[in-house]
Amino acid sequence: MKYQSQKVALYYFAGAMALFVAQVLFGTLLGTVVVKPNFLADLVPFNILRMIHTNALIVWLLMGFFGCAYYLIPEESETELHSPGLAVLQFWLFLIGAAAAVVGYLFKIHEGREFLEQPLWIKLAIVVVALMFLYNVTMTVLKGRKTAITNVLLMGLWGIAVFFLFSLYNPNNLVLDKMFWWWVVHLWVEGVWELVMASVLAFLMIKLTGVDREIVEKWLYIIISMTLFTGILGTGHHYYWIGTPTYWQWIGSIFSTLEVLPFFAMVVFTFYMVWKGGRQHPNKAALLWCLGCSTFAFFGAGVWGFLHTLAPINYYTHGTQVTAAHGHLAFYGAYVMLNVAMFTYAMPLLLKREPYNQLLNMWGFWITTSAVTFMTFALTFAGVVQTHLQRVLGMNFMEVQEQLALFYWFRLGAGLFTLVGVILIVYSLVVPGKAAQATKAGYQPAE
Ligand code: HEM
Ligand code: HEM
Ligand SMILES: [Fe+2]
Repeated sequence: MKYQSQKVALYYFAGAMALFVAQVLFGTLLGTVVVKPNFLADLVPFNILRMIHTNALIVWLLMGFFGCAYYLIPEESETELHSPGLAVLQFWLFLIGAAAAVVGYLFKIHEGREFLEQPLWIKLAIVVVALMFLYNVTMTVLKGRKTAITNVLLMGLWGIAVFFLFSLYNPNNLVLDKMFWWWVVHLWVEGVWELVMASVLAFLMIKLTGVDREIVEKWLYIIISMTLFTGILGTGHHYYWIGTPTYWQWIGSIFSTLEVLPFFAMVVFTFYMVWKGGRQHPNKAALLWCLGCSTFAFFGAGVWGFLHTLAPINYYTHGTQVTAAHGHLAFYGAYVMLNVAMFTYAMPLLLKREPYNQLLNMWGFWITTSAVTFMTFALTFAGVVQTHLQRVLGMNFMEVQEQLALFYWFRLGAGLFTLVGVILIVYSLVVPGKAAQATKAGYQPAE
């Protein structure tokens, strides 16, 4: 950590980790309700728990991205943050807004669109938070050194804000409503969030492998060109059955299939950089998370996305547990692991200690990753059975759900392991190891 103002990232990382635990905890409650429908039934219904689970996910991932930006931008731009005070204020506003939304959900104050259930005033508060953030990071980048990493990161962050505006546009026509809903949900995760992912990975590759910036930047540009070329028209894979013209079945199938390419390129990029770079960075755990991130993003988004992205296949699988399987592995691989990679890299530097708890952190990596993978397989099998019984044989929805009980129990079991793994990860980053307590004041670990 070279700049004092990078410290504001600590608020965001701490907040994100707390919400990460909460999100996964709500996931396990949700998984329990699926197999024991009366569980908590008097207190909170399934749809509210689900909303808290998915919203907490999005909020903590965004909070983590904010933290990544505040950590990375001063170092890349070689200048202090424009306003650290504004960054701290923005953190509290965001946290209070998120908490208010959850309390609102518990009292059934929410809107209907999945992932965007926040009432209007919360959405407006989010826009204010986003403006404070964009102003702060953009001013910093403008006054400092400009690099490919800061350019791409800023493009991604501005894109996140611009597409969020479509959550405010809620046309009465159901087809248009759905169409623009995907402009947030799809163009985020398969567009602008990918730019954030690629730039943060590029930053970590420079730091951890010591490969020349020029080489990393070339890769970064190739990856994001592929992302934008494929991801924007790839939105078509959500336009198959919502009332849009049928040419979307072709456009969506072709371009979303090509979306696998940037994810594959990120795998090649990270492994190639590690192979090429001679540097033996002491933080091995952070490197493990980077490699895990590109690999599991490729499987979750690329392979599990491709499984159901061709229109003739999606015709049968649409909205089944196949979708849930993909949703879990893709979010986990791409964005959960990216954030954890950055936390694992930056927390020891922010707290001025060696990365002592690496072994514990790596246990967290393997337990969480295996558990989410197992969960994905359980849901995939459930989805295949569901597709056949419900969509091919035409069995009744609830009868089919009964047939899936065993898979749902497996999911719950894997979910509990996920929770344990996540707690281990957070513990390893927050609680100092024995040796760390002996670290002298003023000590600087390796960047
Ligand atoms: C990191 C990137 C990605 C994330 C986080 C992600 C996440 C998700 C989520 C959560 C859904 C469910 C949305 C809903 O109906 O509520 C979904 C749907 C879908 N995703 Fe992805 N996805 C990613 C990338 C991809 C890619 C690259 C492909 C194609 C190769 C893909 C193909 C699909 C398809 C076809 C659906 C619609 C499923 C249906 O009809 O029910 N996704 N994705
Ligand atoms: C880091 C880990 C996790 C991530 C990234 C994640 C992500 C998601 C996403 C994106 C959805 C919406 C899926 C869709 O629209 O198709 C979802 C729903 C759900 N999640 Fe998770 N989740 C995680 C952990 C868990 C855990 C540990 C459980 C526990 C069993 C769980 C259980 C569920 C359930 C039951 C649903 C509702 C599925 C449905 O409506 O059929 N999740 N999660
Ligand atoms: Fe999509």
